[in-house]
Amino acid sequence: MLVIGGSSAESLASKVAESLGIKAGALEIRRFPDGEKYLRILSEVKGENVAVIQSIHHTPDELLFEYLLLTDALKDLGAKKVTAFVPYFAYARQDERFKAGEALSFRTVGKLIESVGTDEIYTIDMHQHRVVKSSEVFKIPSHNLSAMPLLAAYVEKLGNLEKPLVIGPDAEAEQWAKIAAERLHTDYDIFEKKRLGDANVQVRPRRASASGRDVLIVDDIISTGGTIVEAVKILQSQGARRIQVACTHPILAPGALAKIYDTGVQDVIGTDTVPSPISLVSVAPLIAENVKRNGG
Ligand code: R5P
Repeated sequence: MLVIGGSSAESLASKVAESLGIKAGALEIRRFPDGEKYLRILSEVKGENVAVIQSIHHTPDELLFEYLLLTDALKDLGAKKVTAFVPYFAYARQDERFKAGEALSFRTVGKLIESVGTDEIYTIDMHQHRVVKSSEVFKIPSHNLSAMPLLAAYVEKLGNLEKPLVIGPDAEAEQWAKIAAERLHTDYDIFEKKRLGDANVQVRPRRASASGRDVLIVDDIISTGGTIVEAVKILQSQGARRIQVACTHPILAPGALAKIYDTGVQDVIGTDTVPSPISLVSVAPLIAENVKRNGG
């Protein structure tokens, strides 16, 4: 069994390999003078079950292409099985034709990943608003794991919220709010969200009031921070006390974190599916557990 991390997940792959007691596979990746990418696999892969870890964030086209080069080469060099672990799966938000003529990017990326011989794929809290099952995108076996149990355990250990109200800022976030609320032995609610543009959202409360309560907001992605800021404004207007935010994927577009801290939020916590200054929780144990279960 071999674990190989692409350039977006080298450190994550080392952690996963270490916890499994195996060595991470090695790659040489560089650019030719004309900008093309060079990739060489330095480990013996013939007959191996290989887990490839590659998060596709920030420079998604480049990292996706690197994944395609790597997996195609692995299969060509005789790897028995390649399982993709894609902690952050870019393009999942373009899962529908919102305007006539738009590319269905989510499906295109799915097809590309399959086209190089990927045998199975694991994602983590992949954005699934309109697509509700990953099998709608992949023909190969697919699994969408959640990092929320790890995040909730971290928040519980921090211990600086008193029986918090857990809030999911939109309908999709209910699944994460439920997990966190169960772990923290408390209640949860979700807001209603309407997206007005790439960086503009409108958020409305439903039932629960945060008056006099500590609050934990949970979501899959923080990108521009707009969703969290709007949710915080509502919670503050209701009289919330300490507010903490936890997300799986801290994409953090420029200025997003400052915008959130400017509202007075005390802690913003993310995972290392996307390395960032708030990536305080590692998804390595989650990936390692599934690599082990899957046999590579
Ligand atoms: C979208 O529905 C997701 O679950 C997140 O709420 C969203 O991607 C966050 O984006 P932003 O930080 O730009 O509001």
